[in-house]
Amino acid sequence: MNNTHQLAEVRLFLGRALSNNAPQDEIPILQPINDAPVYLLPGHFIGRDQEMAQIESFLSPTSSDLVSRCAIYGMSGVGKTQLALKYAADSFDCGRYSFVFWISASTNEKISQSFSKILGLIGHPDRYHPDQMMCMNMAKRWLETYDLPNRAGWLLVVDNMEESTALLIQQVLPWRNPRGSILAIARGESIAKVVVNTINKGHHLIEVKIPNLDESTDLFLKEAGETAIKPDNTVSKDVQDLVRRLGCLPLAVSNIAGFMAKSGKTPSDILALSRGKERVQVSEPICLAVRMS
Ligand SMILES: Nc1ncnc2c1ncn2[C@@H]1O[C@H](COP(=O)(O)OP(=O)(O)OP(=O)(O)O)[C@@H](O)[C@H]1O
Ligand SMILES: [Mg+2]
Repeated sequence: MNNTHQLAEVRLFLGRALSNNAPQDEIPILQPINDAPVYLLPGHFIGRDQEMAQIESFLSPTSSDLVSRCAIYGMSGVGKTQLALKYAADSFDCGRYSFVFWISASTNEKISQSFSKILGLIGHPDRYHPDQMMCMNMAKRWLETYDLPNRAGWLLVVDNMEESTALLIQQVLPWRNPRGSILAIARGESIAKVVVNTINKGHHLIEVKIPNLDESTDLFLKEAGETAIKPDNTVSKDVQDLVRRLGCLPLAVSNIAGFMAKSGKTPSDILALSRGKERVQVSEPICLAVRMS
């Protein structure tokens, strides 16, 4: 046993000894927690009613003793994270879950940090344990044995799963507990399947598709504000042309609309830019969006 390990064991022993001596009425009652980054939700969330209903139905409690699971996938910028955030925020607000935890799963390091954060949020006695794998297993165990009588269940959102993190994800995600739900997010279908295949035989998979022209135009108008609306309150053909040229991709649509609102440019200015050789010096997605046309 090396020094770090010995030190951790001593800390664990001391922590346990102290908590065993604490009077019962000093043990804090766990308050509901929503750790989803809901501040990333736009002021005007568009559409996705069908996907929201599907997620809710796939994650509804079953008679089995297993965690319910659902995975969503789709191309970058299509709105997967936004959809998960909306589901997490709405479900927490209506009391479907008392605990919402957010795992950033793009690297193994981030997965480990997210699990440690769960230990911190719930005030786990071993939350300062230096062994990362131990921490992940302790968080997993807490989620699998969770059964607080006066609280609703938990939701674990696993965002940005990658091929390189699939193995660790399979190891550390909790399997048993009918009061738990997992909503996993990936760009590729094969990675998304990693989370649902074993239990749900791939049925609880949802492809997040590009919104239709009407929904994307709606998003554009809400983000762009007055600059995009004609004086007679109708949507100009330029707006629809622009949205179509952006492939209706929410990321591109909202970035261009935001740029218009700030710069005072009109849809026809942007269309002219996209036809010409000039480049807009803004963020990369906008340059990308202009290049797409
Ligand atoms: N339903 C929506 N309502 C309003 N805006 C949206 C919606 N979906 C997406 N957007 C806009 O598109 C942007 C990109 O969405 P999001 O980050 O969810 O994409 P993603 O599919 O998770 O992409 P990535 O795979 O790169 O993580 C958001 O920041 C937001 O501006
Ligand atoms: Mg995302």
